[in-house]
Amino acid sequence: MRLSVIGCGYLGAVHAAAMASIGHEVVGIDVDQAKVEALASGRAPFFEPGLQEILTEGISAGRLRFTTDMADAKGAAVHFVGVGTPQQKGGYAADLTYVNAAVDALLPHLSPGDLVAGKSTVPVGTAADLAPRVSATGATLVWNPEFLREGFAVQDTVDPDRLVAGVPHGPEGERAAEILREVYHPSVGKGTPFIVTDYATAELVKVAANAFLATKISFINAMAEIAEVTGADVTQLADAIGHDARIGRRFLGAGIGFGGGCLPKDIRAFSARAEELGRGESVAFLREVDEINLRRRDHAVTLTIQALGGSVFEKNVTVLGAAFKPHSDDIRDSPALDVAVRLHGLGAHVTVTDPEAITNAKNIHPQLTYIHDRDEALTGADAVIVVTEWDQYRRELDPTHAKTLTRGTIIIDGRNCLDATAWRNAGWTYHGMGRP
Ligand code: UDX
Repeated sequence: MRLSVIGCGYLGAVHAAAMASIGHEVVGIDVDQAKVEALASGRAPFFEPGLQEILTEGISAGRLRFTTDMADAKGAAVHFVGVGTPQQKGGYAADLTYVNAAVDALLPHLSPGDLVAGKSTVPVGTAADLAPRVSATGATLVWNPEFLREGFAVQDTVDPDRLVAGVPHGPEGERAAEILREVYHPSVGKGTPFIVTDYATAELVKVAANAFLATKISFINAMAEIAEVTGADVTQLADAIGHDARIGRRFLGAGIGFGGGCLPKDIRAFSARAEELGRGESVAFLREVDEINLRRRDHAVTLTIQALGGSVFEKNVTVLGAAFKPHSDDIRDSPALDVAVRLHGLGAHVTVTDPEAITNAKNIHPQLTYIHDRDEALTGADAVIVVTEWDQYRRELDPTHAKTLTRGTIIIDGRNCLDATAWRNAGWTYHGMGRP
């Protein structure tokens, strides 16, 4: 099928390349000339495992191209809209400027029978607002939210755990769902759940899923706070409750909390939308989820200060990690960098290392010292803090070797990802999050 994908960020670029990889003919469109040039020449503009390969493959097969010219969307049967919906400046609500601009720019190039498939995470009610503009051209609007995780985005797009299509009522909606089934034929063919519903439900599925995941993380971080005053170990607690199949162990990783381009802004936008709908109290708990999450960053800073004897002033602190999570170079709302910046603000000499995110981090926080080589970054440290659980730190960093590089022996495990016993046995003073 011929497809267009409007917006070539973390979501759109992966979607475009993944759709080409399953056999479609795809044009990716973005207003950012530099990004389009990179993509068109087969270079992934950000780090995402597997993206580079499918990008090169799609381009050389002639099934994938990128442009800044919206007119090139003409002729595609389905137009995916995957532009950003950031948090509004000075407020919690989602900024829909880019969604509106993308749809408006697309309208003149639509033909009757085309499908416009919204993928961006939007406040419930957005699709109903956009639908009349799309319908006026004879095209149909569907809402087809994306659940991809950064770091696994290619896999999640090619082989998702479910597909959701919010469609209009009646035969127009049935036809739209059929077209989407065709787009996702490999997944649909192998029995991936395909849920056809109305616009509002489709929009809500996405924000509800993210709200649930954020709540799960903040729940275990709240338990970490209790563990800290009782001497309990939150990781053992998580293991024990996680054995209950109704609870499950995933997303019960206590630490410095969630960040990234989705969970933080999505729970805030959900709160703001619920307020507008007169149902603020229904999701009032999300404020608490947000606050617990942010408190964990404070806690990591406090723990570092205490471990260094009451002050970090002029101490060498090596921060292992800058990305908001491993397998990504994304630093949007990264708890790791937040902690690093705060320690720097308190007078510590902060050295940050990360396998992928240094370039992005340096652009936003040039005041920190960045060193690519992990061992070089560790050299002379009074304290080391792990804030992104890359394998390079979690599995591959030998505590005995690390001790030969550093000046002090304080290790703070902001992600509870290290083997505490091994670090202690090697002579380190180990501090976890919610662990004795
Ligand atoms: C999230 C959703 O998982 C995805 O379905 C949605 O489409 C977009 O938002 P993503 O932002 O890529 O995906 O990251 P995710 O894996 O959910 O992690 C979010 C944050 O939570 C990271 O900072 C991670 O370190 C943190 N986290 C995750 C924890 O602190 N503890 C955990 O147990 C799991």
